[in-house]
Amino acid sequence: MKNAKKFITNDGSIGLYNEELDEIYHSKDGAQKESIEKFIIPSNFEQRTKSSNSIRLLDICYGIGYNSKNALCFWENCDIYIDAIEWDKELVEISPQIDFIEPKINEFLAGKRTLGNSKINFFIEDARKVVKSLAEPYDVIFLDAFAPNKLPTLWSVEFFCELKRLMKKDSILTTYCSAQSVRKAMDLAGFKLGKFLDDKNHSYVTVASLDESLILNPLDEYEIGLMNTKAGIPYRDKGLNHSASEIFELRETEFKNSKLIGASAYIRQNKNYSSM
Ligand SMILES: C[S@@+](CC[C@H](N)C(=O)[O-])C[C@H]1O[C@@H](n2cnc3c(N)ncnc32)[C@H](O)[C@@H]1O
Repeated sequence: MKNAKKFITNDGSIGLYNEELDEIYHSKDGAQKESIEKFIIPSNFEQRTKSSNSIRLLDICYGIGYNSKNALCFWENCDIYIDAIEWDKELVEISPQIDFIEPKINEFLAGKRTLGNSKINFFIEDARKVVKSLAEPYDVIFLDAFAPNKLPTLWSVEFFCELKRLMKKDSILTTYCSAQSVRKAMDLAGFKLGKFLDDKNHSYVTVASLDESLILNPLDEYEIGLMNTKAGIPYRDKGLNHSASEIFELRETEFKNSKLIGASAYIRQNKNYSSM
C-alpha cells in the first residue's frame, strides 16, 4: 500500500495507482464498471448463482476487493464461498472502508453482519505460493493481476497449469487481459479460450474453460493466428519461484531465438481481416 495512491475513476468509484510500477490497479474508466464488465458478466456469475446452491470463487489479486464485493452482491441467490489472495495486507484491511454501492457488503467484510452462509477467506501471500497449496476446485476464478508487461509473475504457463488443476469441467476463469502472451500461456496450459467484446467490437477480456461449450465467443482464426506469432511467446516460471526480471529475461531469450512470424508482419498480411 505504501506505493499506492487513491484517485477517483470516471464512474465515481475509488481506484488506486501504484507509483513504483507506474501501473493502475483499476481502470480510469471506472473501478466498479471494470469489475462488472470484465469479471462478473464474462463469468456469467449472476446466472450461476441462480442455478446452484453454492459457488466457490477464487479471487486472485483481491486488492481493495471490487470483484469479490460484486460477487457477494448475489448472496441471496446462493451461498458464495470466496478464497481471496492478495499479498498487500493493508489493501485487504482498508477494503471495507472503500465506498461500495451495497453497504451491506462492506459491513460483512468488516465482520459486522452475515450474508446468509457466504464466507470469505483471505490468503495474504504471493498467489503463486497459495495456488500450489490449494486442492479443492473452484467454480469461478477471477485473475486480476497487474499487466504482464509490468509484472509477469501471475501470467506464466506454469501458473495457468496450477489454475487448471483447480478447475472442474464446468468452471470458468476470467481476466481483463487479452495480451497474446497470456492467451498463449492459457492455450498451452490446456484451456479453451474465448473473449468478450467491447462496444467497438474489440476483444478486451479473455475467458477460459475446460469445456468448449461454456465459451460463448471463441477466439476466431485470426486471433488464434495472432496468438501464434512472436507476440504470443509466453512467460515461463518453472517452479513458480522466479523473480519478475528472470521471467522477463527468459521470454526475451526465447523471443530473440524464435523463428515465428512477428505480430506486425502477421497483421500486415491479414490486413483485410475486418472484425478486429
Ligand atoms: C490490478 S490490482 C487488482 C485490483 C483488485 N481486483 C480490486 O478490485 O481492487 C492487482 C493486485 O494484485 C496484487 N498482487 C500482485 N502480484 C501479486 C502476487 N504475486 N500475489 C498476490 N497479490 C499480488 C497487488 O498488490 C494488487 O493489489
